[in-house]
Amino acid sequence: MATLSIQHPIDLRSDTVTKPSVPMREAMAAAEVGDDQYGEDPTVRRLEETVAALFGYPDAMFVPTGVMANHIGIRLQVAPGEEVICDADAHIVAHENGGLAAHAGIQTRTLPSTRGLLDPAALAAMIRVGDRYTVGTRALEVENTHNRGGGAVYPIDTLREIRALADSFNLGVHLDGARIWNAHKASGVPLKDYGAIGHTMSVCMSKGLGAPAGSLVLLPPDRSEEARALRRRLGGSMRQVGILAAGAQYALENNLDRLSQDHENATRIAAALRAAGASVREPETNIVLVDVDDAPNVAKECFALGVRISPFGPKLLRIVTHLDVSAQDCDTAADVVSSVLMQSPERG
Ligand SMILES: Cc1ncc(COP(=O)(O)O)c(C=O)c1O
Repeated sequence: MATLSIQHPIDLRSDTVTKPSVPMREAMAAAEVGDDQYGEDPTVRRLEETVAALFGYPDAMFVPTGVMANHIGIRLQVAPGEEVICDADAHIVAHENGGLAAHAGIQTRTLPSTRGLLDPAALAAMIRVGDRYTVGTRALEVENTHNRGGGAVYPIDTLREIRALADSFNLGVHLDGARIWNAHKASGVPLKDYGAIGHTMSVCMSKGLGAPAGSLVLLPPDRSEEARALRRRLGGSMRQVGILAAGAQYALENNLDRLSQDHENATRIAAALRAAGASVREPETNIVLVDVDDAPNVAKECFALGVRISPFGPKLLRIVTHLDVSAQDCDTAADVVSSVLMQSPERG
């Protein structure tokens, strides 16, 4: 095994681990604020209007997390006892602790997919109109980029087919766009074109863009009051939260263009691991998935050597690049992961 000297821990568990930069903190400290529950925080309002305009929606609402943004977006379209259809590995199914079922009585029905990207024909076969005996489908949910799909980007034509399908059945569409910024950078598809896919959409400011917290839910016409009431019910209405919105605004203005560096770094890690003999799925954005025999143990050994990566299942590792890791950090991390895998080839 190569002798590896790590100058500082390298954290590639998620793109949520970034810390606000000095200028971001300065922007946050200087933010003009007010009570957002009274709609009086000008910094929050500016962010909401900016993001709504970027995606072509009439309004947007700032919420603490992506989970809450997904919940409110879907709840606006699906009532308790009705169903939303999504892929079997969707974030709303895998990582939101059953919130749609627990808080809103919404049934999620899933179908398998490749890399999390739904096939419109398979989706069409799942839709149920609903009657006295049969639960009715009310909305379709898509995730772009797809987290468990390894940062996979939906082809825009597929998304348009899914939207057309929804229209033909009079269904809603919610787009989980936690990493829509990465999809936009990787594909060159304008944000407004992605915006046109959903009736509602969530976007995260605290992932690739590097804000410390905050997401927005993009809202359909005339649903802003209802959305704000739902946020209140979920305990997500905040007060002088312009401090966080200022970090998000800074992130949007300064960190969107650089996302391609994260994508290059992910490709770099994948290439190094593949060259070392690992079974790596080709990244499209900032997420690298590696198939191994014993993911928890590989992650533990990497951690002991100063590199943090996520076991993403018993046999799957996830490595995520972000603005707090350099190309050099990624090379070092790839060396460490490779050395652990090569040391225990039965794990790799
Ligand atoms: C695709 C996707 N949607 C939603 C979320 C939820 O974001 P948060 O953790 O801010 O609630 C995540 C978080 O990783 C995600 O990957």
